[in-house]
Amino acid sequence: MEDIQRVLFTDEEIARRVKEIGRQITKDYQGKDLVLVGILKGAIIFFSDLVRQIDTPLHMDFMAVSSYSESHESSGVVRILKDLDVSIEGRDVLIVEDIVDTGLTLAYLKEILQSRKPMSIRVASLLDKPERRQVNLQPDYLGFSIPDVFVVGYGLDFAEQYRYLPYVGVLAPQAYE
Ligand code: IMP
Ligand code: MG
Repeated sequence: MEDIQRVLFTDEEIARRVKEIGRQITKDYQGKDLVLVGILKGAIIFFSDLVRQIDTPLHMDFMAVSSYSESHESSGVVRILKDLDVSIEGRDVLIVEDIVDTGLTLAYLKEILQSRKPMSIRVASLLDKPERRQVNLQPDYLGFSIPDVFVVGYGLDFAEQYRYLPYVGVLAPQAYE
């Protein structure tokens, strides 16, 4: 794929890491009322691979959010395009995200979900760009930490493209110029 400058994580590397995260989640959520909340659309590939590596009962639900901001930059104010179908009161919520960048989206989302009185809220993210963080928020379960580069594939997009790629790669500058 000519629009990809270099591959950061191959499908095998991702699969290995997802298996480890699944094992950890399995351990941590024994006997709990686990609700996995996938954030559409970026997290769907990670989500669907991850649930199959978790060996304890769970419920799956999804939210779709969009930033109010017109620009590329996260504004920290998110609009809920699709809300949860189930109540999370008293339950153990695990948000599944594709990437934590500034952290603003997740911070806002956590605040919204917190007001619904869950027993706990944690975050599992495939990727993390710690250099870009604007709020104090660390994923509880993390696939890989990456530098400040724009990546696509394995669910992540640029203008709705490249989500289908089986690997995570750095987008070549000519692809967005
Ligand atoms: P935050 O509020 O800045 O943390 O925004 C996180 C969201 O920005 C993610 O859910 C992605 O949708 C998007 N995002 C941030 N960095 C990238 C990237 O490198 N590739 C694709 N999407 C990204
Ligand atoms: Mg996203």
